Amino acid sequence: MNLAELNKIAEAMVAPGKGILAADESSTTIKKRFDAINVECTEDNRRDYREMLFRSAEGMKNISGVILFDETLWQKAKDGTALVDIITKAGAIPGIKVDEGAQPIPNCPGEVVTVGLDRLSERLAKYHKAGVRFAKWRGIIDVGPHIPSYTCVSANAHALARYAALCQAAQIVPIVEPEVLMDGAHDIDTCMQVSEWLLKETFQQLYYQKVALEGIVLKPNMIVPGKKSGTKASVEEVAEKTVKVLKACVPGAVPGIAFLSGGQSDEDATAHLDAMNKFGNLPWALTFSYGRALQAAPQKAWAGKSENVAAAQRAFTHRAKMNGLAALGQWKQDLEKKAA
Ligand code: 13P
Repeated sequence: MNLAELNKIAEAMVAPGKGILAADESSTTIKKRFDAINVECTEDNRRDYREMLFRSAEGMKNISGVILFDETLWQKAKDGTALVDIITKAGAIPGIKVDEGAQPIPNCPGEVVTVGLDRLSERLAKYHKAGVRFAKWRGIIDVGPHIPSYTCVSANAHALARYAALCQAAQIVPIVEPEVLMDGAHDIDTCMQVSEWLLKETFQQLYYQKVALEGIVLKPNMIVPGKKSGTKASVEEVAEKTVKVLKACVPGAVPGIAFLSGGQSDEDATAHLDAMNKFGNLPWALTFSYGRALQAAPQKAWAGKSENVAAAQRAFTHRAKMNGLAALGQWKQDLEKKAA
């Protein structure tokens, strides 16, 4: 492992004012997104949609890296250019989702563990050859009356750490993504407790697997109440509680933390990130690695019609710029109003 090179990539992924575009929706997830805008989920439509994002020259200025789904890595744009070359030309680093989804954990009703470790090193070698320099693996922890169990937290943390070690051995920076879902009816303090537990367990397992923290990027959830709780926390509370948990759990050796949006509204995801960066004096860079919070607006504007491409690219550019400012703690709410 060349740690200096891994560290350089990780630092570039969280460079000031830049963040990651998570465009790695699996075939089932992208179908859900396309269904919502009445677009047929064909290979060509998936290609056209993603090509449109990667060709948003202005928006890509705030994007340090793009997480791809396997299919996209090998796709060519209409003019024959490889999509991965469009990304690189835009100054972003190509990344890849390598987990193979989640499976039920025996004896743990309602809980899942992420799978895909078998033959992962072979896949990583192939991806590195294709120009991929970072990867993503997501562990999903649901919160409910009797969950999560220790079985679920430890199994997911262990898998994340095994994945991270295999990535580093292949000269690929692992995005370590332990996600506490915001789907439940739990309050913000429960989210805080479960997230702290999951992060502590994850860093313990990373240590056991001898993962070099200087060569990873952490992708956690923010500390928010569950969607079904009927409560909403203030921007200040989310920012304070998220930073408190991260300071307690994430060593300063980690170059950067790139949040997932997890189902927050576009503007909440931006406002929360901005408020955390306004605190200043943090041991790691704090930025975004958003899927929905970067893509919901362009998807709606596009609706599968070629005549809407420019409007969709403007919508994507706007969100990328707002989040780029939030990564610097320089976002202002009137910038959203002006755009509207
Ligand atoms: P969201 O920002 O939509 O949560 O997606 C990020 C991601 O990559 C989830 O794994």
